[in-house]
Amino acid sequence: MTEGPGAHARPVLRVAPAKLNLTLAVVGRRADGFHDLHSVFVPLGLADRLSLAPTGAGGGEPVDSLHVAGLDSGPNDDNLVLRAIAGARALVGVGPGRPLTPPLAARLEKRIPVAAGLGGGSSDAAAAFDGALEAWDALSEVDSDALRRAAAQVGSDVPFFLAGGPALVEGRGERVTPLRGVHGHPGILLVTPRVALRTPDVFAVFDSTRGAGDGSVRMSSAHLAQELGNGLSATDLVARAGVLASANDLLPAAIMLEPRLVPIRRALTRALGRPIGLSGSGPTLWTLYPSATEAEHAAAVVQAAVVDGAVPTIGEGPPAIIATSIRTGPEGAAT
Ligand code: C5P
Repeated sequence: MTEGPGAHARPVLRVAPAKLNLTLAVVGRRADGFHDLHSVFVPLGLADRLSLAPTGAGGGEPVDSLHVAGLDSGPNDDNLVLRAIAGARALVGVGPGRPLTPPLAARLEKRIPVAAGLGGGSSDAAAAFDGALEAWDALSEVDSDALRRAAAQVGSDVPFFLAGGPALVEGRGERVTPLRGVHGHPGILLVTPRVALRTPDVFAVFDSTRGAGDGSVRMSSAHLAQELGNGLSATDLVARAGVLASANDLLPAAIMLEPRLVPIRRALTRALGRPIGLSGSGPTLWTLYPSATEAEHAAAVVQAAVVDGAVPTIGEGPPAIIATSIRTGPEGAAT
């Protein structure tokens, strides 16, 4: 008896974490218009959830579908999940002996603020690549280099999320070196003002004003990568918060595009008595704590400061305030 289409296909569930750039040095501009980076990325406890369910193949081209619950993530056509599933299908290919790739019904529970510098869309894409291949029982069929290349096409941050765990990210984002990470679970407070800050615009302003970092962020980044390569305690990481909060070459460009980040950053420093960093191209601001409990306490302080006006509301309403923690990787130095 011949097996039906997608006979081995099965539903899968993936957790897609947010990321934070503890450092972000822009090393130079590339011929393809992208930038070479040197950046220490860490995954966070804050995460989206993605489920993929095979729907059985009809005739003709497979049609995947996507339903998004939770935060508004914009039109489905722009969602990287569907692009990643299509990319995974192309990797598996068709032909005798190849696994079947029936259409997938994707359901995304969106918890990571969108277009915030937290990598949510890229993380969803990595979860979709990996999840689709597992749903089709095709993980072993696909060459891991080919998978990484396909992932990088979908977005610069996708290879980091495919690898999982804290990492040094270089090149456009395709060179991912796993780091041992942090002992314990340092807390992170995220404050995401509701302003639109597009990544290409931030890089464009960076180019028009400087073209390359001055080297100091690159040095901080190299130093942190080395320390996290050996494993660093949460306390020691928090002790470096001052250096890390200014170790982002994109900060001046983000501020030029959105000057209201200055008063909100200053107000957060005043309310919390701690240095405040910017993740990626923003607009998310962050601060480090030795534990998630302390980050939760800080979230309550900021919430109250927003209500009484000490932290200004900019853009379309009050900021998203989220307490979470750094996840140590699969090979993390501690659990
Ligand atoms: O790859 P991704 O779609 O995430 O990149 C968004 C934009 O960010 C790119 O269009 C590019 O302007 C900029 N970028 C860059 N160099 C990188 C990553 C992103 O210039 N390494």
